[in-house]
Amino acid sequence: MPRNRATASPLFVPRKTTRAQQRAARAEFVEARTKARRAQGPAERREHEGADPEIRPTYPVSGRPGPASARGAKLRLPKHRMTTAVAGGAYPFLAEAGLGAEGIFIGRDLHAEGSFCYDPFALYNSGRIEGFTNPNAILCGVIGMGKSALAKSIATRAVAHGYKIYVPSDPKGEWSGLAEALGGQTIALGPGLPGRLNPLDTPQRPDGVSEEDWTGEVRKRRLLLLASLAATVLKRDLLPMEHTGLSAALDLTVTDATANGTVPLLGDIARHLGTRERLDASLGNEGRIGHAADDLAHALRRLVSGDLSGMFDAPSTVTFDADAPMLSIDLSRLGSSGDDTALVLAMTCASAWMEAALADPAGGRRWVIYDEAWRIMRHLGLLERMQQQWKLSRGLGIANLLILHRLSDLLSAGDAGSRGRVLAEGLLADCSTRIIYRQEPDQVQLSMSLLGLTGVEAQAIAALTRGRGLWKVAGLSFIVQHLLHPRERQLYDTDFRLAA
Ligand SMILES: Nc1ncnc2c1ncn2[C@@H]1O[C@H](COP(=O)(O)OP(=O)(O)OP(=O)(O)O)[C@@H](O)[C@H]1O
Ligand SMILES: [Mg+2]
Repeated sequence: MPRNRATASPLFVPRKTTRAQQRAARAEFVEARTKARRAQGPAERREHEGADPEIRPTYPVSGRPGPASARGAKLRLPKHRMTTAVAGGAYPFLAEAGLGAEGIFIGRDLHAEGSFCYDPFALYNSGRIEGFTNPNAILCGVIGMGKSALAKSIATRAVAHGYKIYVPSDPKGEWSGLAEALGGQTIALGPGLPGRLNPLDTPQRPDGVSEEDWTGEVRKRRLLLLASLAATVLKRDLLPMEHTGLSAALDLTVTDATANGTVPLLGDIARHLGTRERLDASLGNEGRIGHAADDLAHALRRLVSGDLSGMFDAPSTVTFDADAPMLSIDLSRLGSSGDDTALVLAMTCASAWMEAALADPAGGRRWVIYDEAWRIMRHLGLLERMQQQWKLSRGLGIANLLILHRLSDLLSAGDAGSRGRVLAEGLLADCSTRIIYRQEPDQVQLSMSLLGLTGVEAQAIAALTRGRGLWKVAGLSFIVQHLLHPRERQLYDTDFRLAA
């Protein structure tokens, strides 16, 4: 009788096999397995047996222990014959069908035992997955589980697909080597370093946008930047008069720069805020700024003559190279001044500079990677910037990847209902892909409620090993082992200092 799909199924139980036949078949199998093992070397055998922690399955080799395992040979069920199509209906949700072969190879789907490929742009355009409404992704997991390695793999492999990669702030300086290896650009900022970025640079006007509209857009971006810099240093929201002062100082600075053929600088804004007469005169009959701009002038001075002087108050030493495959801004040499304010100010300036350059919708498909983003979750100005980028992602062809340690980092943005919390929760809601690496047991409940995880998924995230993550892609769920090429492993190694 020819073997068809139904009879080839492992669920098919032949009707007429005697115990003797079954014993003979088992003995034959054991003998063949023993022979095959003898033929293997010890390394292959270890791998086959799952001894390598990188590839060991999350379930015990002998199956789950306890009475629920149904392995005690006490359960006797009547034999039943069915096709594999029917079996798929009877046992749904054991493993997802996969996302298809389109996109970047990530690793192995541990449930389906197949390759796992992912490309948010392809998924979005295909419309195949219900609820996949944007290309953004969030990645969280405890220290050292391989979050950055995954992001770097996505970056490296995406470059091969013609995508460009931007890392607006790299506080550990671990992306510079990769950018260099891929033929990209790194701008290192810090005291004594030659790199300068002028966050007030005018970006290239995209095709199809009128001169007038673009001037208005650039002004809006600069005002947003100045307000968030001032609010970060002052550690409070700005008053209405301070907003007026900033816009008047910006207009004066731009007028002077245009007349002199120079570029507007933060130092010029601080100077105008400190000279009341010209500021008041520029407002005409609209009122007087008086002393209201004094705080602002002092706040901006931190970038002009304080610990960040020289980095952001001079013409940029680099121009944005739209053809480079990768660009990262290395902030590892900023030094730590106790709090994160210097880092946040630098991140604000660096991301403003980069975002302005990314505003061209004809710039191709791009990934913007926010590594170590947990450090900035408490800073409203940066959250607002990110929210804007998230909203623009589809229109500009940009996928944002936010990397955190735990989901409670999102909650650190503020109390329930506060503006910070609403922004942070909005970021999560606007990520159709959520990748969860191992979480501490105290985080599992929160992950369950924020991401709507099932009990099995929640159990899984507490036991994930390095490089292994729960991928929630809209409504679909996968456990994926990220696989690294030996060259990648070398390039992404962040353990070398510990090893040394
Ligand atoms: N899938 C993997 N297979 C093998 N090694 C891996 C894998 N992922 C990461 N590693 C290794 O694990 C180490 C830690 O990885 P990585 O720096 O990416 O962790 P991380 O989660 O970003 O840590 P942190 O929270 O400190 O930033 C690196 O040396 C890296 O090479
Ligand atoms: Mg990391």
